[in-house]
Parts: sequence; C-alpha cells; structure tokens
Amino acid sequence: MTRKDTNAWALILGVSSGFGAATARELARNGYHILGVHLDRQATMPAVQRLVHDIEKTGHRAVFYNMNAADETKRHEVLDTFIDLYHREGKAEVKVLFHSLAFGTLKPLIGRNESEMITKAQLEMTLDVMANSLVYWTQDCVRRRLIGRGARIFTMTSDGASMQLPYYGAVSAAKSALESYTRQLALELGPRGIICNALLAGVTDTPALNKIPGARNMLFAATAKNPAGRATMPEDVARAVVAMMHPGFDFINGNTIGVDGGESKVNYVGQKNTFQYADLNLLAESTWDPTDVS
Ligand SMILES: NC(=O)c1ccc[n+]([C@@H]2O[C@H](COP(=O)([O-])OP(=O)(O)OC[C@H]3O[C@@H](n4cnc5c(N)ncnc54)[C@H](O)[C@@H]3O)[C@@H](O)[C@H]2O)c1
Repeated sequence: MTRKDTNAWALILGVSSGFGAATARELARNGYHILGVHLDRQATMPAVQRLVHDIEKTGHRAVFYNMNAADETKRHEVLDTFIDLYHREGKAEVKVLFHSLAFGTLKPLIGRNESEMITKAQLEMTLDVMANSLVYWTQDCVRRRLIGRGARIFTMTSDGASMQLPYYGAVSAAKSALESYTRQLALELGPRGIICNALLAGVTDTPALNKIPGARNMLFAATAKNPAGRATMPEDVARAVVAMMHPGFDFINGNTIGVDGGESKVNYVGQKNTFQYADLNLLAESTWDPTDVS
C-alpha cells in the first residue's frame, strides 16, 4: 500500500492555524488524508492555500471547508459529502478526530459596567464552539460509522481549565466542559475501541493566544518557567499526536496529557531559570543540615 492508497483520514476542526495546521502537516507526512474545517477571512487564505499545498505534496488529500464548525447544517453537509466521495467507494475512515477550535469571547463575566459584562449570546457561543461542538461532530461520525476501532480523539485544553485569568471566564468554562466531555467520550467510546484524550499545551505563540489581553507577558512568563527553556510550539503537539497514534497508546484513555515541556508543573515566582537558585546560594546560607536525621 502506498501512502496515497491509505483509507485513513484525520478530521481536524480548526485546521488552518496553530496546533491544527501543524498537526495536519505532521499527520499528512505520516500517512493520513486531511478533512479540515476552519474559519478564515480573505487575509488569512494564502496561509490556508500553503497548508493545502504542503499536505498535497505528501501525496495525500486535503479537503477543506471554510465554515463555522458550530453550524449544524454545514456539519451534516461536510460529513454526507465525505461519505459520498470517499467512504462509500473507498472505505475511508476517520482515524483521528482533532478538536482545535479557538473562537471565544474574551470579556469579564462581571466587569466594571454593563458594556463590559459578557452577554448570554457570547457565553453560549463560546461554550458551543469550544466545547459542545466536540460532542456533535463525534456523534455524527459515530452515526455514520465513519469512526471506529483504533480511532483516536484528541481535544486541546489549557491551564485555563482549572486556573483563572482575566477576560478568560467563558473560555475557561469551555475548557472545563471540554475536558469533561473528553472523559465522558472515553467512557462511552472505549467499548468501541476508540480512545479520547485531552492534550494540555503550554502557552504557545498563535493567533488565538495573541487575542488574550496580556498575551506577550504570558508568553514571557511561560518561556521563563518552562523546564525546556522555551515556550511550547504547535509542532510539539503535532509530533505528540503522531506518537500517540502508535498501537502502544491503546490503553491510555480519558486523560489530560500535558504537552508543554513540564510548564504547567512549575510555579513561576520571577526567577530567570532554575539555576538562579544556585546563584543565590540558598543552601550555603541555610542552617539546614541534610545529613542530620535526628
Ligand atoms: N495558543 C495557546 O497558547 C493554547 C494553549 C493551550 C490550548 N490552546 C487551545 O488550542 C486550540 C487551538 O488554538 P490555537 O492556538 O492553535 O489557535 P489558532 O487561532 O492558531 O487556530 C484556531 C483555528 O480554529 C479555527 N476556527 C476558529 N473558530 C472557528 C469556527 N467557529 N469554526 C471553524 N473553525 C474555527 C480557525 O480558523 C483556526 O484554524 C484552542 O482550543 C485553544 O484554546 C491554545
């Protein structure tokens, strides 16, 4: 079987940028056709065309839809067209479902006045795109038997699921819901041989990050505290996804897996790096004697 002849597809929601784009490139290099959904305006379409070109250069298909992933009618159209074009004849299967949508309202829940306060429509839209859409796309893939044994679902979460940031209330709630849906799908799809895990990426320089007020400071702090000595890059997640497609990963289900160089495990209090402790010579100044066990 040449790579081109594979029946394995990756359905990537949020394919055009950041983690979605890097993962599409990496999966295409590793034998997958890409069915991608994104929401772009004219200005960012050249980058989308470059991505399609890169995927096709590997010998795989890039079938992209520029649409709102939360639109139910369009979701049905995408999946029905996929069945007509690729599934019925060629037995194409969705082996990877990668949920990487960034589309939320960054506003305080309360704010200083009425105009700052997030609205019901904004809150519901954020939850719908960034969390509920995972359930609807998964249900529709299962209903159509596009996804089955051996498939993997990955969702993109962040520290914001369990920690708060200014302006991040709605997205934080969406991340908590997304992690919960991830675990629930792990439970319900496990018997069908489909595993579902959330990937917790570190702070990563993408268009979505740069919409968060204070993003540059976040990136600076993340870089300073990350044990890897740098911030997370989209390619780190892309490589992790390909690694997790290995059969040895079959029994790892329902987890939130850090793909962040250890960043989320470090509490940053302003030091430049770990070795600054050595400069302070804290142990030398301390009266604590590690050999004294009395
Ligand atoms: N960047 C970070 O620091 C970071 C860290 C952890 C987790 N995440 C999460 O990773 C995911 C992807 O973020 P990113 O940083 O790669 O963002 P990004 O802005 O680079 O990419 C977002 C993608 O989602 C698509 N999109 C947005 N709204 C859409 C909609 N309604 N319908 C269809 N497509 C839509 C965009 O077209 C784009 O392809 C998000 O869930 C984000 O919360 C980001």
